[in-house]
Amino acid sequence: MSDYVEACAAMRLAFGERVLMEEPLARHSSARIGGPADGFFAAHTVDDLREAALIMWEYDAPLFVVGGGSNVVFSDDGVRGLVVHNRTSGLSFEGTQVLAESGVSAVSLARRAISRGLAGFEWAAGLPGTIGGAVVGNAGAHGGDMSQSVVWVDAVTPDGDVRLTNEDLAFEYRSSILKRQPGRVIILRVLLQLAEGDTASLEARAEEFRAYRRRTQPQGATIGSMFKNPPGDYAGRLIEAAGLKGARVGGAQISEVHGNFFINTGGATASDVKALVELARREVLEQFGVSLELEVELVGEW
Ligand code: EPU
Repeated sequence: MSDYVEACAAMRLAFGERVLMEEPLARHSSARIGGPADGFFAAHTVDDLREAALIMWEYDAPLFVVGGGSNVVFSDDGVRGLVVHNRTSGLSFEGTQVLAESGVSAVSLARRAISRGLAGFEWAAGLPGTIGGAVVGNAGAHGGDMSQSVVWVDAVTPDGDVRLTNEDLAFEYRSSILKRQPGRVIILRVLLQLAEGDTASLEARAEEFRAYRRRTQPQGATIGSMFKNPPGDYAGRLIEAAGLKGARVGGAQISEVHGNFFINTGGATASDVKALVELARREVLEQFGVSLELEVELVGEW
């Protein structure tokens, strides 16, 4: 912990009052759940992000970067060390390529690409979260995923900046090397290759996807997709078949609308969510012999 105290003092020196103490992480999670972060810092530029990471690494102190907070559950005891909220938002276009800072939301990138007549990212029109987070977990929906358009990412490591190509990232279903070997690599920028298209038809496609989501997914304080789809099946279908739609623990509930979405009905704790996760895994394993793997990341002390 002493490493963190020194790192925190260095963060304060670099960023002053912008470093918050004991910030409730519930404010930064789509499910509105989670205890305090020891230290919390909103990075608005790539330089902020790089500097904060290098300071924490220099002192060997714990660091977690959160983007949209839609694919994480923070524990009730919160997170030790520094949580950096990635608020970078730079976005530029050159021909059919898009250069996005990692904190850009997938939804706004999809919207801007469509309005410029760029095809290949409509699937993300309703995707929660940021582009950096989407790369790490190879997010996808409606048959599309990040691996189809990432050319490279620029990232910071303790040894300086690196460029990782699509091949280096070794994408798999809802995974990349950065997910499989979490370590000291933080994505700063992402270059995507899109194709020429026609705005009106791209927008129609995006609207179909958004409408599908409105019809099939719950709205509000949700966490989802909670589990990866197992090979050849769907986590939502299995949870429904196990009779668990609507199941509750405390303030957490498995959605009545989609079995792979969990809801904070008000006052849910992280341990409520964890107990529901365990219930779903146990029932699906007992009834169907399928072991569900989390897509969402549990962060902090459990
Ligand atoms: N299903 C059920 N019961 C349920 C929910 C789903 O039987 O309660 C069935 C559906 O009828 C459908 C199948 O399961 O036949 C798949 O459901 P859906 O089309 O809703 O998609 P999904 O496989 O659950 C979601 C997300 C993905 C996410 C994957 C998991 C879509 C539209 N949605 O797919 O994208 O990656 O789970 O990896 O593809 C997201 O929507 O936020 C998202 C990130």
